[in-house]
Amino acid sequence: MKEVEYQRFKPESREEKTADWLPDGTDKTDYVKPDKEWTRLERRIGQPRILDHVYFPKVQRWIETNFIPDNLKYFEAGCGHGNDLRAIKNALGGHGHFLGVDMSLAEIQRGLEYYREQDDPEAKQMFAQGDLRNLHEVQVWDEASGNFSKPFNIPDDEFDLVYFEAVMHGLGYGSATYHEKKDSAQQMLGELFRIVKPDGKLFGRASTFTDAIDMEARLKLLRDTDNWRFMPSASEFEEMLAQAGFKNIEKTLAPHPRADSDVNKKDVLKFSFLATS
Ligand SMILES: C[S@@+](CC[C@H](N)C(=O)[O-])C[C@H]1O[C@@H](n2cnc3c(N)ncnc32)[C@H](O)[C@@H]1O
Repeated sequence: MKEVEYQRFKPESREEKTADWLPDGTDKTDYVKPDKEWTRLERRIGQPRILDHVYFPKVQRWIETNFIPDNLKYFEAGCGHGNDLRAIKNALGGHGHFLGVDMSLAEIQRGLEYYREQDDPEAKQMFAQGDLRNLHEVQVWDEASGNFSKPFNIPDDEFDLVYFEAVMHGLGYGSATYHEKKDSAQQMLGELFRIVKPDGKLFGRASTFTDAIDMEARLKLLRDTDNWRFMPSASEFEEMLAQAGFKNIEKTLAPHPRADSDVNKKDVLKFSFLATS
């Protein structure tokens, strides 16, 4: 597999040093590179988060009521090595069509390794490489040829159900202003709205700041915490979902699991949501 260049912020914008300037935040992301150790992923493998999602039971009921199982089309944005993808596929009895897109070849490779061990040929067609901000050009892994497909456009209104977890805070590669990074996240939500069918569902979880802390404090936390590139406040994120076109947004806010032990997590909320397109 060849390493692929991702859409970064324009180099000229790096010269600006405005008050809402944020650093790249990518220096410590060795885990997305193929030649690095897998420690972070090894720790997580076997611990899918989707089944614990507060709206998962509701999503399951919605599927049972509305779909002949084989017809469901499911998409995961930022599927990584496919932990959640595998878990939902199993939870739905293997029925339906599943596709996950991730920009990291290393993560995809890791997912493929797992399925090779399991000898699950169907599952190997589930991974695609691409940038969530532009789903007009994704390439699906084809195990038989040992190659990715030619880049193809994910058509509008293609999927019934879309999920993402912990993707947005790591989305905006490159140093840029808060607002440029926010635009980038908005672009992803716009793409997810484009590919989900009318009356389809989006659900997932994102880290957000509490609305209580001001922008200056938020920018400081984003600058000081090297694996966060962008994080909106809870109400800002809800507005972003609505701006992308999602409606009937249900949300559950929970403190970060390490809020008491890590001062950087004290003002962070886990924002779980379910919305309709
Ligand atoms: C926390 S992981 C998701 C884990 C996944 N739910 C699982 O079960 O393994 C977030 C993923 O988002 C991906 N990601 C971040 N920005 C992306 C982008 N612009 N395009 C595609 N994938 C992206 C990262 O490579 C990473 O694998």
